[in-house]
Amino acid sequence: VSRIQVTPSSEAWVAAAVADLETLLVDHAHCEKRAASTAVRFLFKYSDWTSLVLPVSRLAREELVHFEQVVRELKGRGWRLRSLASASYAAELLKVVRPAREKASGLPHSEATVDEMLVSALIEARSHERFVRLIDAVRGIDAPLADFYASLAEAEARHGELYLELAEEAAGGSVEARLVELTAYEAEVIARPGLPLRMHAGPA
Ligand SMILES: [Fe+2]
Ligand SMILES: [Fe+2]
Repeated sequence: VSRIQVTPSSEAWVAAAVADLETLLVDHAHCEKRAASTAVRFLFKYSDWTSLVLPVSRLAREELVHFEQVVRELKGRGWRLRSLASASYAAELLKVVRPAREKASGLPHSEATVDEMLVSALIEARSHERFVRLIDAVRGIDAPLADFYASLAEAEARHGELYLELAEEAAGGSVEARLVELTAYEAEVIARPGLPLRMHAGPA
């Protein structure tokens, strides 16, 4: 996502991901499901936000298609979807969402909404960054998987841009200053040590 610059994933994370593609794909499947669930939640929470409804509904459908695709990629390699504890990456990011009561008069939405959209944009941007890294990292050992990551990278970049545009609409203007703060916080969360390998966690 060109307007959102997350920090580069570490070589250690890329190496751990390549060394355990089964865990990576299983967690990835759950991530796609969560992305769809978050989008559907927004459809209920913001049911009267006209410019959100159709693009976010489409996004939710795309995430479920991604989910189905990842499950097929698992199957094709003789693996299966299993439950796997999340590393709470998104939950950690949402901890810094500002309270809704700080809504300034005249603004279309509260600061909480701006932050929610920015956190979603950052998650999509991080997914994009990791898929791009994985394309080259897995090319030599699993070329079809590299092609799959390339197709997903395009979609996640688009999703990041959509959530950023919604954040700007919610703020009624630029969100640059808050995006800088949240990007720095995301960099800290993604680099937390001692977590098991996940799409959004693992070796820093
Ligand atoms: Fe996705
Ligand atoms: Fe996405």
